[in-house]
Order: sequence, then structure tokens, then C-alpha cells
Amino acid sequence: TIEETLVLIKPDGVARNLTGEILGRIEAKGYQLVDLRMVQPSRELLAQHYAEHEGKPFYEPLIEFMESGPVVAARVAGHRVIEGFRSLAGTTDPTTAAPGTIRGDLGRDWGLKVQQNLVHGSDSPETAARELALWFG
Ligand code: CMP
Repeated sequence: TIEETLVLIKPDGVARNLTGEILGRIEAKGYQLVDLRMVQPSRELLAQHYAEHEGKPFYEPLIEFMESGPVVAARVAGHRVIEGFRSLAGTTDPTTAAPGTIRGDLGRDWGLKVQQNLVHGSDSPETAARELALWFG
């Protein structure tokens, strides 16, 4: 089944000039870039995007980090792309993310209150639909 997922290149990825490298890995895997935009996200958009994390200790630092600079949002399509992109991205903590993954190869732990881990990918079909509507309308 062809799925669609929302991929975000977070402000650390854009600032470190890794946009091309990250999009290249998505394309090289065989997934299709259906839509692409660079956004300066508002606090309102981020609060909606991260509603499930409200109240967690990293919530405020996460919102501040995400609004610290432009983000690249991509609508990406492919067979099982939701699971597949999360596999390409690697686990949340860049220190222990497997080498070969985006976070494992390119990410590092900066010792901050929030993991600046380069990318976000939707975690289920329901989340993907909700997040794509938020970022692409
Ligand atoms: P993301 O997949 O965008 O979803 C929530 C984000 O919060 C996550 O990526 C990380 O950037 C951050 N995050 C999740 N868990 C933690 C944690 N335990 N400590 C710090 N940051 C976290």
C-alpha cells in the first residue's frame, strides 16, 4: 500500500546544511517527494504538532528549539514509508542511533534539554494524516 508521511528537517538540520543530504537519502531509498516547503513555524503550529508531548519535561525546550529557525517540511510517499522513514531516521537519541541512519551518522547529543535530532517522521497513518494537514493544509 502506498502511504504518505510527514518528514520535517528540524532547525539543526537546516542550519547545518544537511537538507540536501537528508532529502537525498529519502530519494535514494526510492521514496517520492510529493511536496516540499520551507517554513518558519509558529508557536501555534508547533503546539498542535506536539500536543501529545505537552507537560513533558522536554516540551518547552522542544517548542523553543523548533521555532529557532526554518524547518523543511516534506510530503513523502511510498510503500510502507511511515515505518520506512523512521527506520532511515534511526532512534530518537543520536548518540545511540544506529550508524547508517540519519541520526546515527549525522546527529549528535549537544547536552541540551531537548534532543536536536535533525528530523521528524510521523509514527502512524493517523498521525501522518493529522500532521500533513497541519503542515500542508
Ligand atoms: P520528534 O520525533 O520530533 O518528537 C518529539 C521530540 O522531542 C523528539 O523528536 C526529540 O526531538 C524530543 N525528545 C523526545 N524524547 C526526548 C527526551 N527524552 N529528552 C529530550 N528530548 C526528547
